[in-house]
Amino acid sequence: MDVVKRVLLVISGGIAAYKCLELIRILKARHIDVRCVLTESGAKFVTPLSLGALSGDKVYQDLFSLTDENEMGHIELSRDADLLVVAPATANILAKMRTGIADDLATTALLATDKPVLVAPAMNVAMWDHPATQENMRVLEGRGIRRIGPAEGDMACGEFGFGRMAEPGVIADTIESALTRSARLSGMRAIVTSGPTHEAVDAVRYLANHSSGRQGHAIARALADAGADTVLISGPTGLPDPTGVIVRHVSSAVEMLEACQTELPADIAICAAAVADWRIDAPPAHKIKKNGKAPVLKLTENPDILATLSGARKSRPGLVIGFAAETENVVENAIGKRRDKGCDWIIANDVGLGSGTFGGDSNTVHVIDEDGVEDWPTMSKDEVSVRLIDRISHHLETKS
Ligand code: PMT
Repeated sequence: MDVVKRVLLVISGGIAAYKCLELIRILKARHIDVRCVLTESGAKFVTPLSLGALSGDKVYQDLFSLTDENEMGHIELSRDADLLVVAPATANILAKMRTGIADDLATTALLATDKPVLVAPAMNVAMWDHPATQENMRVLEGRGIRRIGPAEGDMACGEFGFGRMAEPGVIADTIESALTRSARLSGMRAIVTSGPTHEAVDAVRYLANHSSGRQGHAIARALADAGADTVLISGPTGLPDPTGVIVRHVSSAVEMLEACQTELPADIAICAAAVADWRIDAPPAHKIKKNGKAPVLKLTENPDILATLSGARKSRPGLVIGFAAETENVVENAIGKRRDKGCDWIIANDVGLGSGTFGGDSNTVHVIDEDGVEDWPTMSKDEVSVRLIDRISHHLETKS
């Protein structure tokens, strides 16, 4: 790494706090600057003296310290780093982050930052498994906060299970790769479509599908993390808007196409949305009354967004990537779709019953380009996104 990168390390109050000393040592050895924020309960486990000695910097503890604010205000502290890392991240600090509570220096910095945040949870097994913690973590991840661990193993409390903080070396590797990745696509503009579309049947009903938006949103987040100026055009989903991404909310396929065209030109377009192939021809503006006779609905074909972007004469994005949602002959059908729609790459995934792809955490994809088919192992949707962005970066670097 040429330019020295800085991490703001937030240490909250858990027994795993002692591992931060080793984490700081490893990061410094890799020429990454570390500045520490220690919470009141964190200070029960490690001392500011040891953290300061290892980091070679002042340790910040108090939101209302006049000296600290004169040296570096809490807002500046939160933005001066390239990455914020919370390790250990207790159940308490995760809950505060989820609700936006800012009652000390650590939580205020986490609320005020405009930089990526990585958390390394560490707590008792039952606390980690508790629905409240699980939900807090899901919401935070939905906002783009990255997580490493917890790992499974013996806990300081005598129990066994998931709750141990990831090892310092593993956290350091994740930090290093996050810092290196963050500039790979800077200067690039990307459009991503995500989620389902809703096609009105009448004033109150619509046609839709099972897409949750998780895959498309994860891709948008990964693009933004890699430094791309990213616009996410999202159909109706229950997901929070990812941080660092401009989000345009649309409902129907026609609206999605219009939003995509408005956002051109772009260097990269990724169509992960499950766009309805048909819409109802002239849906009435009132609710269709039930009168003992089933209504006959006339369907019209929707515009194909992926094909339109791929075929755009003047403003075709340099790299257009589609997805193919298939229930049989997954790869063969996807190869045909790539050819018919004219996109550069197509990512095939099985959405058949029992695959868990729609709405699930993981995905098993096959990446198809002009050179052939690459089968990827089953990964979380976040991991698929990160690997896809690595492939895109590599492709663009090679091309230029
Ligand atoms: O949202 P999740 O729950 O996380 O699930 C992820 C996913 C299964 C939705 C996603 O991985 C995926 O496969 N997205 C594409 C879904 C789809 O509509 O596939 P398709 O094979 O019907 O369409 C092929 C391509 O054409 C897609 O890139 C699609 O966005 C695009 N398309 C389709 C129809 C249309 N009118 N316009 C389009 O742009």
